[in-house]
Amino acid sequence: MRAAQFSRFGGPEVLEIVDLPDPHPGAGEIRIKVRAAGINASDWKKRQGLMDQELPQTLGYEAAGIVDEIGDGVSGVTVGDRVFGASPYGAAQAELALLSYWAPIPNSLDYARSAAIPAAAETAARSLDQLGVTAGSTVLINGASGSVGSAAVQLAMERGARVIGTGSPGTHDALRLLGAEPVAYSDGMPERVRAIMPSGVDFALDVAGSGVLPELVELVGAPEHVITVADFHGAQQTGIRFSHGDTGRATYALAQDAQMAETGRFSIQVGQTFPLTEVAHAHRVGEAGTVRGKLVLLVD
Ligand SMILES: NC(=O)c1ccc[n+]([C@@H]2O[C@H](COP(=O)([O-])OP(=O)(O)OC[C@H]3O[C@@H](n4cnc5c(N)ncnc54)[C@H](OP(=O)(O)O)[C@@H]3O)[C@@H](O)[C@H]2O)c1
Repeated sequence: MRAAQFSRFGGPEVLEIVDLPDPHPGAGEIRIKVRAAGINASDWKKRQGLMDQELPQTLGYEAAGIVDEIGDGVSGVTVGDRVFGASPYGAAQAELALLSYWAPIPNSLDYARSAAIPAAAETAARSLDQLGVTAGSTVLINGASGSVGSAAVQLAMERGARVIGTGSPGTHDALRLLGAEPVAYSDGMPERVRAIMPSGVDFALDVAGSGVLPELVELVGAPEHVITVADFHGAQQTGIRFSHGDTGRATYALAQDAQMAETGRFSIQVGQTFPLTEVAHAHRVGEAGTVRGKLVLLVD
């Protein structure tokens, strides 16, 4: 199969399309013919050598496609089904990918919009679970306009929470449409939040990693009511929880979001699609930060 891969760390130019042996699903896994695979900010961090150190690496946490092999112990899915899900090996940017959890693609979504969902939805659901956000909670989401942030807004609203979301001013209308009360994240953010909720908020989720964990603790009143998914060093310095996949995956989120998507209550914006062969260009666009919404690779 063809796959996007790098065998040395560096700029986007280290990415190449290579031929790799076809993978086969282990117990509890399925294999899909990939039609679309999501790109995440961690892709360029990995390519630059800032995360995993092994080489070579194929990237891609999430994909959508057609089931073509089924591993031992798997039930409820058939060869030919259209599914979207998560790659346990982070290697979904290829013609074939193994998935360890998945859900049927809802009729209302195409492959690209489905492939944009798994990482954002799972991260958002996991973080809200770990915070304990339920009906009647008030929650501040710092970085609410991005993929993970907008998923968190939609899932918190679905739980019956009241949501304040920080975003740049140009995103405020979109945040309102999702049901959040928007505030700008520039200087003075805590005062703007207090103006909306004078007694503070119950929980805060930091998706932006913008160095405001102390302000978030002050707003909620207790460090255990703050979680970050993006500020690893800030979490270490402040003793705030850093949520990542190894802290317990919310795999149920995919089926929940598929069902919500069918009734128009959940979506992740796709900013731009690229053929798999243009993965290096996609990284340049992603790192430039000029396109709002998820970047997705399409596979013929
Ligand atoms: N730990 C995990 O399990 C996990 C999993 C997935 C992703 N992540 C991490 O989560 C982060 C977000 O990922 P994403 O895919 O949602 O990225 P994204 O779609 O690019 O969103 C990032 C958002 O951050 C906002 N932002 C930028 N500067 C800000 C600031 N100073 N204050 C508040 N918000 C600011 C941007 O808002 P504007 O456009 O309005 O400026 C943008 O919408 C990344 O660091 C990623 O690595 C972690």
